[in-house]
Amino acid sequence: MEIIIQENYAAISQQAAAVVADAVRSRPGTVLGLATGSTPLGLYQELIRLHREENLDFSQVTTFNLDEYVGLPADHPQSYHYFMHENLFRHINVPAENIHIPDGTTSDCPAFCESYEERIASSGGIDLQILGIGSDGHIAFNEPGSSLVSRTRVETLARQTIEDNARFFASADDVPVHAITMGVGTILDARKIILLANGANKSSAVAAAAEGPVSSKCTASALQNHPDTSFFLDTEAASQLQMADE
Ligand code: GLP
Repeated sequence: MEIIIQENYAAISQQAAAVVADAVRSRPGTVLGLATGSTPLGLYQELIRLHREENLDFSQVTTFNLDEYVGLPADHPQSYHYFMHENLFRHINVPAENIHIPDGTTSDCPAFCESYEERIASSGGIDLQILGIGSDGHIAFNEPGSSLVSRTRVETLARQTIEDNARFFASADDVPVHAITMGVGTILDARKIILLANGANKSSAVAAAAEGPVSSKCTASALQNHPDTSFFLDTEAASQLQMADE
């Protein structure tokens, strides 16, 4: 994997956005895998700027989001549907019919998860997957202990993740306990992967992901086995990497 360390959050956001823009420009029908959380917000803002000011065209792009909370309808302010609409989709020209986000209100989760995998496959697979990382090393909602060949399914959130994400809800009790998530295996099928991390609270997860053993204790470590993964890190997120000291 390639590790790119930048001075600050703005720099990683801009550089990662340039990778996405290149993918879209070189292949207008590119299939993007998208992430939520606070980390990709700067990247999305830069994509919006490129769309407005430099005509970056998303009209043929297809998107698949990593995950969604079980039980939250699309119009719930903490749902990932709402997040994506507010922070990216309503500002760019990706057609609504090309947008895919797991349905947290489905009455049949297993059937939905299977159909999500089928839709990714029938779109030709994900060309470029954007990832954040949880402080426990999760990617999407693949918590420690998840199989490294897992596919899209319902996952129970770890206590750490509920505590981390409680800042977006009235209290930790309001954070859903379950989510539909792409599996680690689903993510690894993407042709190219970029993971963004900033801040000291991500430094141990980043070090485990990049330099630790490949283990389900840190599901992001599975990215070591992917042929085209880049980590975009600020200096704080990179601070526990041994290679950064060399
Ligand atoms: C959630 C998401 C992950 C994301 C993580 C980190 O758990 N399911 O995809 O990477 O949060 O969030 P943040 O970027 O806000 O630190």
